[in-house]
Amino acid sequence: MPDLDRMGVTEEALAQIARMPDPRQREIMAAAIRHLHDFAREVELKPEEWLAGIGFLTAVGQACTPYRQEFILLSDVLGLSRLVNLMHDAEGREAAGTETSLLGPFFREKAPEFAAGESIAVHATSGEPLILFGEVTDAEGRPVAGAEIDIWQTDAHGLYDLQANDPEVMDLRGRYRTDAAGRFDMRTVKPIGYSIPMDGPVGRMVRQQNRHGMRPAHIHILVQAPGYRELVTALYLGDDPNIDSDTVFGVSRSLVVTPERGLPGAPRPDIAAVRYDFRLSRLAEGERAGRVGADPSSILPAAE
Ligand code: BEZ
Ligand code: FE
Repeated sequence: MPDLDRMGVTEEALAQIARMPDPRQREIMAAAIRHLHDFAREVELKPEEWLAGIGFLTAVGQACTPYRQEFILLSDVLGLSRLVNLMHDAEGREAAGTETSLLGPFFREKAPEFAAGESIAVHATSGEPLILFGEVTDAEGRPVAGAEIDIWQTDAHGLYDLQANDPEVMDLRGRYRTDAAGRFDMRTVKPIGYSIPMDGPVGRMVRQQNRHGMRPAHIHILVQAPGYRELVTALYLGDDPNIDSDTVFGVSRSLVVTPERGLPGAPRPDIAAVRYDFRLSRLAEGERAGRVGADPSSILPAAE
């Protein structure tokens, strides 16, 4: 029987999981144990603090529903989602691909389909009209025809449809396809900056940390085409006051845009527009690139 001290308990826990058959799961669990134990030793974790942490994680789990993913939100505000995103991109992304951003907790599969020139603002129509147009190309600038572009955003009150009264109704989200020349013409209303959900345990934590909890105004974009790496990104409006202090660390310089009237090639000169070209990188033969995020309704508890 081992006689455990504050270092020996780590060794013993690692020894017990050494029999895990899956090498990747074993690597992840072993690193988690080492870092958790180091963390507890570093801060000299007290019993009441340990219990408070367990209470917090319990509340995070209890706040999750098919329409709300509080654990993704926790990962976002701690910068973990952005870190996983950055590592995911570095793994095989061609330098010429468009920069990525967070999928966030409000993505939904199977958003309504729209034709070029139609607006995703079907129910919540207030706000300044905005056009998003451009091309989807490969890394060499060749057009990608038939690419699917999902876009989603908040309404003029800073709420996603999932947060509105009837979350079954999809609004301010939709799917478009590029034409034979890889072009798209999407319509919406100008989004405003908004607060991440602050009415749950993660929001309480953010407030305790003396942070504002705001995300700068943005439009989410997901581009998919067979043979290409899926692109999860977002465009951020440069005039937002929180453009430099996003609570979830999603902004990159190359994704900041400023709508303008009368842009060359804009479908309507009288409506503010953003031209943005999305560049996709190819998937290697047999490669399957994962996605950093998911529709909340598809995140089910792990099987027994
Ligand atoms: C969003 O972009 O909608 C979002 C991302 C992370 C946390 C909360 C909201
Ligand atoms: Fe968002």
